[in-house]
Amino acid sequence: MRAIFLGAPGTGKGTQAQYLALKYSIPQISTGDILRKAVQDGTELGKKARVIMESGQLVSDDIIIGLVKERIDQDDCKNGYLFDGFPRTIKQAESLDAMLGDRETLDVVVYFDVAEQEIIKRLTSRRVCGQCGNVYSTIYNPPPASGICEKCGGKVIHRDDDTVETVKNRLAVYEQNTAPLKAYYERQGKLRVVDGGLPVEQVRENIDAIFAEEKTYR
Ligand code: AP5
Repeated sequence: MRAIFLGAPGTGKGTQAQYLALKYSIPQISTGDILRKAVQDGTELGKKARVIMESGQLVSDDIIIGLVKERIDQDDCKNGYLFDGFPRTIKQAESLDAMLGDRETLDVVVYFDVAEQEIIKRLTSRRVCGQCGNVYSTIYNPPPASGICEKCGGKVIHRDDDTVETVKNRLAVYEQNTAPLKAYYERQGKLRVVDGGLPVEQVRENIDAIFAEEKTYR
């Protein structure tokens, strides 16, 4: 299974990807997580990416495409993978098509449809584990009062780019650069739309049904 989760920031891509990647035994490839790790480790890439991410802009296509090429060449990607937050521009999507070539195909692109007001509410209330990336919400799924992640014992934090101002920037950047990918994948006949405004379990069931269908057709 080779799949993409596409949608604006905060629509629930990471939340659902964690579960589905586990269920289908494929790695979740989140370019956001790869970049955050580089920032945390203080690498050259991390130093460049930090300022860009904090402002809500996109890291350059060339850097992202290089990271993804390297990642999908690894052994655990042989049976497929689930992209969460990639591609984000037409150039990234075209590069992915070129990487896959004629030998491999992309099975499905799941688009998460969520209203902007709900996105702002979700992102400003999101909390994440700084160590394992487990996602919480002060509204829907509160973290432990201790502020310590129940999965790994890491510290639960508020992401620097989850402030109202940066969220608004990220939404504008999304509209300009990433929203056109919906039509791109619709033209390829790969796009499936889910109502991401539904409760987590319901969204999960709907994506599960899409994946099951794709598996049957392959
Ligand atoms: P990235 O980390 O990819 O962030 P994003 O796409 O903005 O996505 P988010 O992680 O914010 O949202 P999500 O859809 O995963 O939502 P989540 O499941 O957490 O990117 C960060 C930055 O890195 C970018 O701004 C850019 O600078 C850079 N970058 C990354 N990839 C790049 C690329 N390819 N090219 C260039 N630059 C790149 O859910 C959000 C909240 O809602 C959580 O609190 C969750 O608990 C809650 N929630 C989820 N689902 C539901 C539901 N159904 N009902 C109620 N609450 C829910």
